[in-house]
Amino acid sequence: MSESKSLSIDSFMQQFQLRIEQVLHQHLHALPADAEKLRTAMQYACLQGGKRVRPVLVYAAAKALAGNMDNADVPACAVELIHCYSLVHDDLPAMDDDDLRRGKPTTHIAFDEATAILAGDALQAMALRLLSDPNFKIAAEARLQMVHHLAGAAGYEGMVSGQSIDFNAVGNTLSVAQLEKMHSLKTGALINASVLLGALSSERASTQQLDALQRYGECIGLAFQVQDDILDVTSDTATLGKTQGADQALNKPTYVSLLGLVGAQNKADSLCAQAIEAIADFDENADALRAIARFIIARNN
Ligand code: IPE
Ligand code: IPE
Ligand code: MG
Ligand code: MG
Ligand code: MG
Repeated sequence: MSESKSLSIDSFMQQFQLRIEQVLHQHLHALPADAEKLRTAMQYACLQGGKRVRPVLVYAAAKALAGNMDNADVPACAVELIHCYSLVHDDLPAMDDDDLRRGKPTTHIAFDEATAILAGDALQAMALRLLSDPNFKIAAEARLQMVHHLAGAAGYEGMVSGQSIDFNAVGNTLSVAQLEKMHSLKTGALINASVLLGALSSERASTQQLDALQRYGECIGLAFQVQDDILDVTSDTATLGKTQGADQALNKPTYVSLLGLVGAQNKADSLCAQAIEAIADFDENADALRAIARFIIARNN
C-alpha cells in the first residue's frame, strides 16, 4: 500500500472512531436518570476508550457498498454496546476475574458486581432497542434482519456459547478445531455481525456481496482473537490496558498455547490474506475493509 493510501486509511479509522464516540455519548447520556448508579456504570463501561474496531467495521462495510453513513450510526452503536457488555461480564470474578480494562479498573471494581452484571444486561437490551426503534429510519425489514443477526451473534448461536466453551475449557487441552470453534463463537460472531450489519445498513447488498462479506468477516473475526491470544504473551499491561499474561495465569487454551507463537502468527497472517481475497471483487470503496484486516493482525493492543 502506498503511503498516501495508508494515511487515508488511518484518517478513515480516526474519523469513524470519533464519530462513534459521539454517537455512543449521545445515546448513553440520553438515558433517563432513574437508576443513576446503573446509568453511570453503563457510561463508564462504554466511554472509557477502546479501539472501536467493531463500529468502524460497520462503517467500512457500509462504505464498501456505497451506503449512506448516517444509516450506519445505529448499528455501529449497537455492536459496540454488545461488545462493551461482553467485556464487563467477561471480567467478572466468576469469569476471567480481571481488574483492569482499557487502562482503568473494570466495572465491577469501580462499582460492584451486581451493578456490573446489571449494566451488562442493560447494555445488551439497549443495543436491540436502538436497532428496533422506528426512529431509525431504514426499512423495517432491514432493521429486523439486523436485530436477528445481532441477537444470534450475541447469544447462544454466538458469543455466549463461545464464552461457555471458554469457561469450561480452562485447564483442558482442546484440539485446534475445537479452539477455532470457540474463538469463532466468542469473538468472531460479533465481528462478523458488525460487517453484516454495515452491509445491511446500505440497503443495497446483493446476496453475492453478502456471501463475500460473510467470508471476510469470518476470517477477520477469528484473526482478531488469534491476535488477542498473541498479545497476551507478547505485549505488556500498559500497552494492552488489561493484564498481560492473564490467559497463561488462568491456563486458558489459546492459539499460542496450542500452536506456539510462530504458529499463531502464521495462522493470523493466513486468515488476513483469506479475508482480503474474499472481497477481491469489491472496488476501492472496500479499501477500508482491507486495511482493517491488516490492522487486526498488526495491532499492538
Ligand atoms: C477485547 O476486544 C476482547 C476480545 C473479544 C478479544 P477489543 O480488543 O476489541 O477491546 P477494546 O474494545 O479495544 O477495548
Ligand atoms: C473475550 O475473550 C471474548 C468476549 C466475548 C468478551 P478474552 O477473555 O480473551 O478477552 P480479553 O483478553 O479479556 O479482552
Ligand atoms: Mg474471557
Ligand atoms: Mg478476558
Ligand atoms: Mg484475551
